Amino acid sequence: MFWLPSFSFLLCSILGVTALPGRQRATPKSDYIRDAVDAARVLNDEWYNDSNGQWQDLWWNSANVVTTLGGLAQVDSDYKTTGIGIVEGVFSAAKGSNGGTWLNNFYDDEGWWALAWIKVYDLTEDSRYLSAAEDIFGDLKTGLGATCGGQWWDKDHTSSNTINNALFLSVAASLANRVGNDKQAEYRDAATSQVDWLLSKGLDNSNNTFVDGLSLDDCSPEGDVFTYNQGAMIGGLVEVNKLTGNSSYLDKAAEIAQGAMDHLTSDGILTELSIYPDADQTAAQFKGVFVRNLVSLQSARPNSDYIGFLQNNADALWAQDRIDAGSNEGQLGSAWQGPVTSVSAASQSSALDCLVAAAAVSS
Ligand SMILES: *[C@@H]1O[C@H](CO)[C@@H](O)[C@H](O)[C@H]1NC(C)=O
Ligand SMILES: *[C@@H]1O[C@H](CO)[C@@H](O)[C@H](O)[C@H]1NC(C)=O
Ligand SMILES: *[C@@H]1O[C@H](CO)[C@@H](O)[C@H](O)[C@H]1NC(C)=O
Repeated sequence: MFWLPSFSFLLCSILGVTALPGRQRATPKSDYIRDAVDAARVLNDEWYNDSNGQWQDLWWNSANVVTTLGGLAQVDSDYKTTGIGIVEGVFSAAKGSNGGTWLNNFYDDEGWWALAWIKVYDLTEDSRYLSAAEDIFGDLKTGLGATCGGQWWDKDHTSSNTINNALFLSVAASLANRVGNDKQAEYRDAATSQVDWLLSKGLDNSNNTFVDGLSLDDCSPEGDVFTYNQGAMIGGLVEVNKLTGNSSYLDKAAEIAQGAMDHLTSDGILTELSIYPDADQTAAQFKGVFVRNLVSLQSARPNSDYIGFLQNNADALWAQDRIDAGSNEGQLGSAWQGPVTSVSAASQSSALDCLVAAAAVSS
């Protein structure tokens, strides 16, 4: 659930970013890992509440934090025990704090939690986590059959958005890629019908970036362009390519990635251009979703531009978006080119995503 603010600022002037002093790295991967572990420590010390299993009481953002910590544990085997310990705690405490269920009124929130447990399943191979994602999927299906096709954003049927539909694709395809053959057909059918629908609605604009959703009046595409929609689409397309072997899904994912790198950046740094950073602190998470999924695309279809992009963004945020002294040392803000602003668990974990992404693509 992400509330579009009633007012919307356009960043009329984009702050010039001075050239970063090049960090000379003998072993960039280990540097990024070291920085990511530091950012994760601050995230958990500052905002994690083990009685409700959430960071700063942020529900859907906490699902994303689980995914991010899972990613860190995948790139850094030394972090695996710590990471699994934390997410195991979330698995019982967050569910308990929500009345014993991962479900709520918003299909996108549910989709984030399903993807979180799929990530933890990949990390642990513990089938409890895959089962949790399958259970959530059972509820996600109840949102299908929206006025314009696809899935409703919410159970009150107030809108039809890109984010929940891209997450539905990702969850369905990810499950199809992981469950046994006996169960695969349902997820495969759901994923392939969903991708056909998503790519048929003209949601992508002339910049190859997806807008926020469909108008319920005439089913035409409408809304702002946010970074997380690009990330969620790329993630879904990579999984459905894995499922079907159809390379046109990777072509599409690469177009979206390029569109975002060309048009949702300021001097090469990923920037949430359609929303003023203070308008909604949860939106600070969006950029992390993009960079995390760019890593998936990099694994499926390597492109050295993605490596340079992720490293530049990680270098920028570490140099310019980090409080480097005092009692808040190590906190990371919501604008990666700096200066540090709107610090929250969402901004911290989003920046952490970028450090993990840079580590994942570096050697
Ligand atoms: C942690 O979560 C519990 C349960 O929701 C709540 O009562 C408590 O106030 C939270 N603690 C902090 C420091 O936010
Ligand atoms: C691959 O996917 C594209 C886009 O959905 C579709 O047009 C095409 O028919 C598919 N190709 C095959 C071989 O299924
Ligand atoms: C495409 O991106 C440019 C910035 O590169 C922006 O000014 C323009 O509004 C975007 N067009 C659309 C249709 O979003």
